[in-house]
Amino acid sequence: MREIIYHRALLKYGADILYSPGMQLEKEFLQHGDVSVFAHSVAAACTCLLFARLLRKYLKIRLNERALVRGALLHDYFLYDWHVPDKSHRLHGFFHARRALQNASRDFALGKIEQDMIAKHMFPLNLRPPACRESVVLCIADKLCAADETLTARSRYQKISRRY
Ligand SMILES: [Fe+2]
Ligand SMILES: [Fe+2]
Repeated sequence: MREIIYHRALLKYGADILYSPGMQLEKEFLQHGDVSVFAHSVAAACTCLLFARLLRKYLKIRLNERALVRGALLHDYFLYDWHVPDKSHRLHGFFHARRALQNASRDFALGKIEQDMIAKHMFPLNLRPPACRESVVLCIADKLCAADETLTARSRYQKISRRY
C-alpha cells in the first residue's frame, strides 16, 4: 500500500527526472553495497515522503512535496562511479554535492529549495547548513538510507526503484 503511495508521488512530481537519460545512467553506478545511485536516490525520495507525511500528520508541519521529491531524486546526480579512482572526482565525499548541483542545474529547471537540498545534503561534512526544512529532511533521510544500504548491501526500496 505504502509503495503505491510513493509510486504515485514520484511519478506526479518527478517522472521527467526518473525517465531522463542522466537519471537512467545512475543505474550503472554503484552507491552503497549492491545498491545503484538510482535506487539510492529513489530510496531517499521515498524516505523524505514518509517524513513529510509524518510531520504533516503529527506536527502539522507542511513541506513542499514536489521540491522534496525532485531534490531528493537529484541529490546524488554527480554522474560518475566514485569507486573508480579518477583525478576528476578525488575527495568525492566533500565535492560531489557541488557536482550534482552543477549537473542537475544543466539538465533540469531547479527551484531554490531543490538547489539548497542538493547543495547541502552532505552537511555536516560540507559545512554550510541546510537553509530550509526540505533540506534538513533530506539530510537525515539520506544518511538513514546510506547506513541501511551499507549495512545490508541492499535497498528496502529496490522493488519500487525497478518500476522506472
Ligand atoms: Fe551524496
Ligand atoms: Fe545520497
